[in-house]
Formats: sequence, structure tokens, C-alpha cells
Amino acid sequence: MSCADGQETTGDDGRHCFGKREDIIQAKRVVKLVNGRDVLVLHHEGTFYALDVHCYHSGGNLALGDIEEFGGRLCIVCPWHKYKITLLEGEGMYQPVDPSVKPPRPGPWTSKGVKQRVHSVTESNGYIYVTFNPSTEPIESDCYQTEKYRATRAKMQLQKKK
Ligand code: FES
Repeated sequence: MSCADGQETTGDDGRHCFGKREDIIQAKRVVKLVNGRDVLVLHHEGTFYALDVHCYHSGGNLALGDIEEFGGRLCIVCPWHKYKITLLEGEGMYQPVDPSVKPPRPGPWTSKGVKQRVHSVTESNGYIYVTFNPSTEPIESDCYQTEKYRATRAKMQLQKKK
């Protein structure tokens, strides 16, 4: 079994194959469940990015998010409540409002810190590989990467179809 067979593989180096470079470019976004994580790989303007697909705020599907710049940083915008997440670092972005300024006006785009787990992407022989973020520090989006959440989500989707 190998990446070239179209099979999901994990090498000795811990890299997970996500598929052919050209196929991902064409699809623009690919989501795979690998080793208990739902991971999104996307291609945007010549660069590949990888991050957990469920938004840290409430589990929104980031595979459906638009990509825009905020404060000069490239972000994915969650389709559920429009939270902005930097693609490279997984930082939540917001505009603080100074209550002493009247009328209140949003300030400059500011980071809330890392909220979404992002992963590194490499390319080899025409295939795209993801190496999971090794940080042992919990990251908010981790809470949506459990079997329990997956089961709840599947149940919700079934109910929506009824
Ligand atoms: Fe993503 Fe709320 S679930 S912004």
C-alpha cells in the first residue's frame, strides 16, 4: 500500500499522505480522517495549508470557509459565525472595541492567540503529505477531534436530513 496506490498511508517519518498534488489543486480542498483527526488540506494561490477542519468556536466546517486577509494576515473565515483564523498559525483574529471612544469603532485586527491546530505540509514526488502539529499543549480546536464529537455530529446530520 502506498500513496501512489491512492491509499491513505503514514510513513515511518509520521507524514500522512493526502494525495496527488495536482488532484488537490484541482479539488482546492480535501478533508481526511487520519489517526483520529479530521484534517483539511487546502490549496490557495500556490500554497498548501493544513488545519483541523472543525472550527475552535463551535465546530463549524472550515472546508466551506472563504479565504480573506485581515490585518495583512491570510485567514479562513468560518461559515458558521464568521470567526477569522490565520491559515499559517491557527490564530483567532478579532477587532477590539475601545469603550471610551464614542461612537465605538472597531480597532485594528488583533490576535487572540492560537485557537486552531494547524499542521505542516510537505510535497514529495508529486504527492502532498501532512505532518501533525506535535504540540502537547491543548489547543481549543482539539475538543472537536474526539469520537464522541464525531458521533454527535453524525447524529445531528441524520436529524437534519429527516
Ligand atoms: Fe466557527 Fe462559530 S463555529 S465561528
